[in-house]
Amino acid sequence: MRYSDELVEEIRLKNDIVDVIGGYVKLQRKGSSYFGLCPFHNEKSPSFSVSPGKQMYYCFGCGAGGNVFTFIMEYENYTFMEALKLLAERAGVELPELEYSKEAKEQADKKAVLLQMNKEAAKYYYVQLRTPAAKPAMDYLKGRGLTDETIQKFGLGFSDKFGNGLYRYLKEKNYSDELLHESGLFNVDEKHGMYDKFWNRVIYPIMDVNNKVIGFGGRVMGDGKPKYLNSPETKIFDKSRNLYGLNAARISRKRNLIICEGYMDVISMHQAGFNNAVASLGTALTSLQASLLKRYTEEVLIIYDSDGAGVKAALRAIPMLKGVGLSTKVVNLRPYKDPDEFIQHEGHDAFQQRLLEAENSFLYEIRMSEQNYDMKDPQGKTDFFHEVAARLLGFEDEIERNNYIDSVARVYGIESDTLRKLVNRLALKSVGIAEVRKPKSGINSTREKESASEKVQKLMLTWIVTYPFVMPDLEQFITPEDFTNTLYQRIARMIYDQAHQGQISPATLLNQFVDSEEQSRVAALFNAVIPLEADEGREKAFNDVICSMKENSISSQTAQLSPTDMVGLQKLMNDKKMLDTWKISGVPLHVSFE
Ligand code: UTP
Ligand code: MN
Repeated sequence: MRYSDELVEEIRLKNDIVDVIGGYVKLQRKGSSYFGLCPFHNEKSPSFSVSPGKQMYYCFGCGAGGNVFTFIMEYENYTFMEALKLLAERAGVELPELEYSKEAKEQADKKAVLLQMNKEAAKYYYVQLRTPAAKPAMDYLKGRGLTDETIQKFGLGFSDKFGNGLYRYLKEKNYSDELLHESGLFNVDEKHGMYDKFWNRVIYPIMDVNNKVIGFGGRVMGDGKPKYLNSPETKIFDKSRNLYGLNAARISRKRNLIICEGYMDVISMHQAGFNNAVASLGTALTSLQASLLKRYTEEVLIIYDSDGAGVKAALRAIPMLKGVGLSTKVVNLRPYKDPDEFIQHEGHDAFQQRLLEAENSFLYEIRMSEQNYDMKDPQGKTDFFHEVAARLLGFEDEIERNNYIDSVARVYGIESDTLRKLVNRLALKSVGIAEVRKPKSGINSTREKESASEKVQKLMLTWIVTYPFVMPDLEQFITPEDFTNTLYQRIARMIYDQAHQGQISPATLLNQFVDSEEQSRVAALFNAVIPLEADEGREKAFNDVICSMKENSISSQTAQLSPTDMVGLQKLMNDKKMLDTWKISGVPLHVSFE
């Protein structure tokens, strides 16, 4: 299931990267590149660059980078296919019907059938709720203050007590047992065969942002266990990528989104007019959900339960939300347990007031850590301020850091300057350690340390991309085999091939890398700058890079040489001799950087 490389390339060429990214990020021209605030991490001064020449972007702050496809994939959370579709449409390129492989077609068909089946199931539960047998369920919902309109709007339903109604209903529609099983709506055991997973429960259909039913939550009537039962993950239901209520919240036109814990909380907030509320699906907030939120808003209000579990969940969610660049606040519901309860007792206006009073998430974090210290004890208090100072160091931007220092000082009744001094002292002591929270699933942290030899290879690639005219000449001295790092060798081969065909195009090359970690590394490579200002220095510098690369390549080959390989040995000795003459009289290059 793939479009041809030519078509992919055509679509890339027709979508100028500056135009595309300019639609998402405010860009300003600086020299030959454009700069803006990186959409992939939280920053106050622009380190996100877009190069029209290379048709690539790169963030010097967090290492995110790639071509126009990568950008759409990362920003919109799209697969390559989805990004391709969006850009094709944008450029008015018609995509031909894909020649699906048999398996791919089966998978796509299966997803469509599962969606269809979920829709049927939602209909079934919906109708059940309106039958006389469902009176207890309807009474329960009304008892919790839901209006007919709300019940209808969220498509609430009911699964009866008999345990095979949905099975029979879908069987009549001729779905196979295999597909029914895959829907996650049924349990199977030897004694009973296949039977409904949900029975005697109020049903909450879960929809994706396109209003497609992808799963269900069911709340038990009364005090049974578990209180909520949810559809398992299926081909169409990925809990880590969806949020309950987002289909409605995303069009609420409010200035922020509210994240809460449960179905009922979302529903009662929406009913009270706070239709920007969403909930994660019976699991802790994931970073994918954080990026999903970032697609629709800049600010998130966390409203978790007021109990210990809620605090713990909030403390986990805050760095996740900050990591994708969302500004975050925490709402205090005390003395009530959850938003539903608060609204029932205090109503709309009081709730609105609590939203307005939401606490800055940094201040919330330190207020919570305060509880780990004995503030009546001088030592406890000192330790607390040391922790606060360490956290304050996390703000890279000086103005921002100072603002936080001032407000922390105000809250805890100490002098701003005293706290500032403590922070600065700590900064001096921990140079290097102070680098906190690299965003984006730690692209930087997972990268293993580079050896000197790898650095040189990387530098060589940077030279080639920066000065493509060195190419035909360079090949006599350095070949792709001289690149000992597998990734760099792979790139070198592609670049050499491109050069043979007449043009080096880094952005095209990037189409070949699907893994986003690799894409970032390749993008970093092509966006590295050769640290040289004057033209005269360049020849000498390039010369040095060639020599070091050859030297590394020779020693790596020597290490791998089999003791009986006389031909290989001879060649290496020749290479070594050649390298010695280069070192004395320079590499006989015919290019000039003047
Ligand atoms: P709560 O136990 O706080 O439930 O769980 P709630 O939303 O207040 O429910 P009501 O008001 O008693 O009806 C919060 C959320 O955690 C998930 C559900 O999404 C629930 O809304 N949950 C809870 C489960 O998935 N399974 C459970 O067994 C319990
Ligand atoms: Mn509740």
